[in-house]
Amino acid sequence: MNFGIRHKTLDFFSLTPNTLLTPEPRLIETLATARAVTVLTGAGVSAESGIPTFRDALIGLWAKFDPAALATSEAFHRDPELVSRWYDQRRRRTLECQPNDAHLALARWQKRLAECGRQLTLITQNVDRLHQRAGSKAVIELHGTLLVWRCTGCQTERLEEGGPFNEYPPACQGCGRPRRPAVVWFGETLAPEAMAAAEAAIGECDLFVSVGTSAVVQPATGLIELAIRRGAATLEINLDPTPISNRVDFALYGCAGKILPQLV
Ligand code: OAD
Repeated sequence: MNFGIRHKTLDFFSLTPNTLLTPEPRLIETLATARAVTVLTGAGVSAESGIPTFRDALIGLWAKFDPAALATSEAFHRDPELVSRWYDQRRRRTLECQPNDAHLALARWQKRLAECGRQLTLITQNVDRLHQRAGSKAVIELHGTLLVWRCTGCQTERLEEGGPFNEYPPACQGCGRPRRPAVVWFGETLAPEAMAAAEAAIGECDLFVSVGTSAVVQPATGLIELAIRRGAATLEINLDPTPISNRVDFALYGCAGKILPQLV
């Protein structure tokens, strides 16, 4: 859907829980008529579940570690015990968290569109699987997930939803080699099939929604640019403005857990 001249509505909502959205009519019309919606989420959508985002200065994960120290395959080969312990701590903390109203609203929206022959494709940069636990289907995980660990030898993958491992790094039951979290580390390439699925979904959508991402990391930024180039209507829902804020058609600022339920 092409608006020709890209209009922009910047709605800033205070973070009080009782803020009632009054988005402008064209946004409501776009939401109500979109037949293929693609949503890209980032760490901000899980913030209200208690999972720190990457770049929040006060509580962000960056404040606690140097990315090069832990989130790379080099770091894992240099100190597999330290890296596997840190990731397993994040895995267990994630399992203790619950999906929040933003995750639940997206799952409801996807179900509602499917019931009337339309579709919502959810692409996430998050590795916490809270979207799936909220009921979202066919989630495209660009950066993999903390909840699956892969053998560095035979590549066998296993879903891990229990307590702490009895050794770090955990050994593969098949070949005995060390297992690592099935996440994308810095310097690693994304799974080609995930990227292809994300690009295909964006190519077919008439509404693209970016939620809770700082839009500074590739390929997220590239996917947003692709949606704009393909002429989809674009909506950003984020706590703060980002580098794409001046490119999207609509922008709503505030907590995703408050905005999404009202929009849906
Ligand atoms: P960031 O931490 O970079 O950005 C989170 C965004 O969410 C920020 O723009 C916040 O303003 C916003 N935010 C925080 N709380 C929010 C809330 N309650 N409601 C709505 N928005 C909120 O996280 P990402 O953009 O996801 O990659 O980071 C992208 C990638 O960078 C991550 O997947 C990770 C990192 O490198 C890998 O690990 C490969």
